[in-house]
Amino acid sequence: MDRILLRGGNPLHGEIPMSGAKNSALKLMAACLLTDEPLVLSNAPRLADTRFMAHLLAHLGVHSSEDAGSVLTLNAKDITNTTAPYELVRKMRATFNVLGPLLARMGAAKVSLPGGCAIGARPVDLHLKAFEALGAEIELSEGYVEAKVPGGRLKGGRVVFPFVSVGATEHTMLAATLASGTSVLENCACEPEIADLAGCLNAMGAKVSGAGTSTITIEGVEKLSGAHWPVVPDRIETGTYALAAAAAGGKVRLTQVRPQHNDALWSAMEQAGVTITQGEDWVEVERDPATPIKAVDIETRPYPGFPTDLQAQFMGLMVLAEGASVMTETIFENRFMHAPELSRMGADIHVRGREAVVRGPAKLTGAPVMATDLRASVSLVIAGLAAKGETEINRVYHLDRGFERLEEKLSRCGADIRRVNDRE
Ligand code: UD1
Repeated sequence: MDRILLRGGNPLHGEIPMSGAKNSALKLMAACLLTDEPLVLSNAPRLADTRFMAHLLAHLGVHSSEDAGSVLTLNAKDITNTTAPYELVRKMRATFNVLGPLLARMGAAKVSLPGGCAIGARPVDLHLKAFEALGAEIELSEGYVEAKVPGGRLKGGRVVFPFVSVGATEHTMLAATLASGTSVLENCACEPEIADLAGCLNAMGAKVSGAGTSTITIEGVEKLSGAHWPVVPDRIETGTYALAAAAAGGKVRLTQVRPQHNDALWSAMEQAGVTITQGEDWVEVERDPATPIKAVDIETRPYPGFPTDLQAQFMGLMVLAEGASVMTETIFENRFMHAPELSRMGADIHVRGREAVVRGPAKLTGAPVMATDLRASVSLVIAGLAAKGETEINRVYHLDRGFERLEEKLSRCGADIRRVNDRE
């Protein structure tokens, strides 16, 4: 198993290019099932999660090829299987998103229920209710969702989500593109990845409007074609490196980004005393390591609020801040697993239900710590950059799910970070 060894204390200086968004790429990959022509995704991130998705798609009959850069071609000319088995779905929840496209194109599908995960129960009831509103018949049996469409084609319908769900919004959009008639989805999530998916679907010939607002309208079409689509830059990766630069101190320019997708973060970082300068497709983060960091409270919210996927990383900065800050997590019920690991490095954090109170500034020291989930693990890297001595991060397969070439990107800016494998 790989470990990351990180010696803190070096300020970061330089430029880091951001990759395409994992959370968008996974849904765009599922969209390939809607057409028998090739879907070409450029700026596709190379991650463990996109490999899991490609693996499942291959099982369904999709041919995929990656070039040496970041272009991923997916061809679902012949779907040879409409069952997504437990072994291929359990590793990553987003694989569940093949259900909607399979139903839309093939009229039937059997997909394993994804189950919970470390950060919370994460049910899929909203996804299934939406498919029923589009005319699907759904049965749950032996851990699988068995769905079929009487007559073979979904029908446009009205779906009102009882609360905002990114996954349910995207999954319903995917399914409704090939339905007969018009679907109106209300109380939709507004994340940039949803607008990215709508852009790609429209490039394939779909008629989706309103993505990025709370009401999305989809006029169903009979057939979708292939397309070429560039994956939107990863705003979570961008926010993560911005927080890393703030914690370590120094000056780092992040390139190939959409700065406007991180407004809630920039505002919190500026309140903390970090200088943020934005250009059209870059952002620069600067902090003199001698300048104290101010404590700032945050509350996670659906977009455009503060993203839950950056809460752990922001806590990694707040442990260094002077005074008390409160992190309130409103999206997932168990998303403070990084707190005890940060405490092992000297942080003072008290978790009470959905709130974590952080008291700083901590004099962090390197320690052996354990990655517990994707975003939690990278908060340990952020703290490690500011800690005295060596931090050893175990279970880095969590990091590899969502961060492409992390050690390379950080060491190019002066971080003392390396990966070791016990077999070496
Ligand atoms: C996506 C992102 C994840 C991010 C999250 C919130 C991907 C691959 N993952 O996850 O990184 O943290 O959005 O921004 O894009 N819920 C239900 N029933 C449902 C669906 C969701 O109760 O049918 C609940 C969830 O348990 C959670 C809340 O709704 O408490 C929001 O989840 P949702 O927005 O659906 O997150 P995901 O799409 O799973």
